[in-house]
Parts: sequence; C-alpha cells; structure tokens
Amino acid sequence: MKVLLGVTGCIGAYKAAEVLRGLQKAGVEVRVIMTKHATEFVQPLTFEALSGKPVITGMFARPDYAIIEHISVAREADLFLIAPATANCLAKFAHGIADDFLTTVYLSNTNPVLLAPAMNVEMWQHSATQANVNSLRERGVLFVEPGVGYQACGEVGAGRLAEPADIVQRALEVLAGAKTQPARTQDFANEHVMITAGPTVEDLDPVRFLTNRSSGKMGYALAEAARARGARVTLISGPTRLSPPDGVTTVPVRATREMYNAVLERLADVSVFIGAAAVADFRPAQSAAQKIKKEGRKAITLELETTEDIIGTVAAAPNRERRLVVGFAAESQSLLDYAATKLREKNLDMIVANDILRTDAGFDVETNAAVVLRQDGSRLTLPLQSKRDLADRILDEILALRPSSTP
Ligand code: PMT
Repeated sequence: MKVLLGVTGCIGAYKAAEVLRGLQKAGVEVRVIMTKHATEFVQPLTFEALSGKPVITGMFARPDYAIIEHISVAREADLFLIAPATANCLAKFAHGIADDFLTTVYLSNTNPVLLAPAMNVEMWQHSATQANVNSLRERGVLFVEPGVGYQACGEVGAGRLAEPADIVQRALEVLAGAKTQPARTQDFANEHVMITAGPTVEDLDPVRFLTNRSSGKMGYALAEAARARGARVTLISGPTRLSPPDGVTTVPVRATREMYNAVLERLADVSVFIGAAAVADFRPAQSAAQKIKKEGRKAITLELETTEDIIGTVAAAPNRERRLVVGFAAESQSLLDYAATKLREKNLDMIVANDILRTDAGFDVETNAAVVLRQDGSRLTLPLQSKRDLADRILDEILALRPSSTP
C-alpha cells in the first residue's frame, strides 16, 4: 500500500515525521509532498531521510519533476493524507484553488483523501473554516478530528493536531477499507436523506434540563449507511458524544424547537426523512433565565407544555407524495400497538419499533432489534444486530416502499 503524505506549514509539521514512521512500520510506502510554508518549519531532508525518497516541494523545484508528475504521483498512491492540514489548506481544497503542487495534486486525485487539521482554536471554530470542512465532508473527504488541549499559541481548545498514532490508525483503517470492502451499491445516489438523531434537551434554567438516554448511535448509523450508498445526507443531531460522520452535513441542535426549525428550513428537496431522534415530548412552560433557588421552598411544581411534533409536521408538509417519511417508536410496553397507532396518526410510510427495555437494544448500546410496520399492515422482524447493519436493513426496506421497487 502507498500513501502520499502532504505536510503543510504549521508548528505541528514536525509530527508528520512520526506519522510517516508509523505508516512505514505498518508496511506502508510513503511519499512526501511539502508546501513552501511547511519547509519553513521542517527541512525536506528530514522526510527524505525517513522515506528514502525525494520530497516534492514545488511544481518547479527540481528539474527532474515535470509538471505532469502531479497526476502520476496522485494515481500511484492508495490514500492522500495531509497531516497537518492548515486552515489555508482546507480553504484551498474546499474552493478548488490549485496554486502549488499539493493543491494541484488534490484536484487531480481520485483516491480517498484524509485530512488531519491543525490550527489555532479560533481559526478552527471560525465559520469560514467550519463551512470549508462541511463542504469537504459533503464531497467525501475524510477527517481525523483535531484534538482539544494546550496549543502552541498559548490558547486552550480544539484545533491541535490529532496524535500521530491516531492519524496512523485512521489511515490504516481507510487503506484496509479501500482494499477489502466491495464498492457498495449506490442505490441511494438520487436521494437526499434527512435524519434526526440523538436526544433533545429542554432547559429549566441555566443549570438544569430535561432530556433522555438517546446516544445518537442509531441515527448516526443510518446517516453513515445512507452516505455509503450514495445519498446526500443531512443529519440534524441533538447533543451526542459522537463525531460527525464523514461526507454528511451535520447540523447540531439542542432543544426540540431548534431541531424542528432546522428540519423545516432544509426540508424542500428531502426525498427520505427518518426520525430516529428521541425528541422530548414536553418542555418547561417557562425556562428561567436565572438558576431556580431552593431556599424557602419545600416543593416545586413544574408546568410542562407539549413540544412541536417534528415528524408529524414533516408528514403534513407540501409535496408529501415526493417524500418517504419513516419514524421510530421507542416503547416500554405494548410496543407494536403503540407503534401502529403512531404510524397511522402521524401519517408515516413506515415505522421502526424498538423495545427500549431490552439491555441489548434501544438506547445507548451498539446493537438493536426492531419490527418494521408498514401502511399496508405488513410487518417484518429484524433480529438483533449491530446498529450499522440494522441501518442498512432499514434502508433496504425504505427503498422497497418506492412504487418502482414493487414487482
Ligand atoms: O440514540 P440511540 O442511543 O442509538 O437509541 C436509539 C433510539 C432508541 C433513540 C431510536 O432507535 C428510537 O427509537 N428513536 C425514537 C425515539 C422516540 O422518541 O420515539 P417516540 O415513540 O417517542 O416518537 C415516535 C416518532 O416521532 C419518532 O420518530 C420521533 O423521532 C418522532 N417525534 C417524537 C416527538 C416529537 N415531538 N417529534 C417527533 O418527531
């Protein structure tokens, strides 16, 4: 296996040497490209000595490199890894700017691209950088998330280069995937799939809130599966500990009202909507601006009001016939009866009922089991399996709902 390692100009550039060594130890052949700025931080000689190959530092840097080499260099590698990738590099990739060897290789590359960003926390959080990251994810570019911690500039936060060992491990996973996984059927290539995932959180005051046990794993598995099958995917996610899936537009939200607005704002061309989120059914009628004090109180009564019915609104939105609407039902008793009622009352095309009292299914575990209920009254049991595998089975059943799929 061969990796083309791009090194861009930031203080973390020296760590690319560790990445190179880690890849070599795993038997990977590495060729290095450095930007001009990277050479200000580390000498090309370091990488030449480690890789045993000339380091490419520019289009015209050496007489023996023809400009056309950017095409062959890109083609002969199995993975294009850039570590560290600066904010400038992300911006150029996102906008197709090819003003040096590295960015020209990116444009002519057809292999998987893995970026390990590194920059100051403010630069990483800037809306311009985040927009560039999202746009690259949508095009299938993979990321090793930057770490959180003390930065060279003295600030503390997200943006420091991920640990070299983690970058190597992710690179090896991508290489293994490219080698062993058969190309998936792109049967969702013409679909825009929107998925809600995770819990919603309803604040009582600046300190306390109402929420539930959803981890987001089921919804994120669906997003990954739909993306792998060629869909454009929008994931509207309540707070979770999960990393945004590669190639998916992820919109983080907190309260039900935010999730509702985020869904409706982006609904126009959605062809498949899947409500996997555990949406709060109630929220405090009033959210206190200041911490509610207990002094002088023996008891306190909370008044709750119902929240927006997100999936019900989606199912009642214009152009219903152009969109498949699929819900989940999480119940602790009479699962199939309640699920059937929700299917009918919310006007869904299909509902996936999961028993949340099982310890190996439902909330915050890696596996799930479900019964699929359809409008025509038919049912299908999907046995216990990983949430990722179940996601693919659910997607199969969604596609089977399309009129063209019926025999
Ligand atoms: O996130 P995990 O830890 O992986 O757990 C997965 C899961 C158990 C949360 C998931 O598989 C699941 O069952 N999600 C739906 C949970 C739920 O809230 O079910 P419900 O029966 O209360 O709601 C029925 C449907 O209406 C759901 O599609 C829900 O997203 C939707 N809904 C509910 C309330 C509301 N105000 N708006 C909604 O859109």
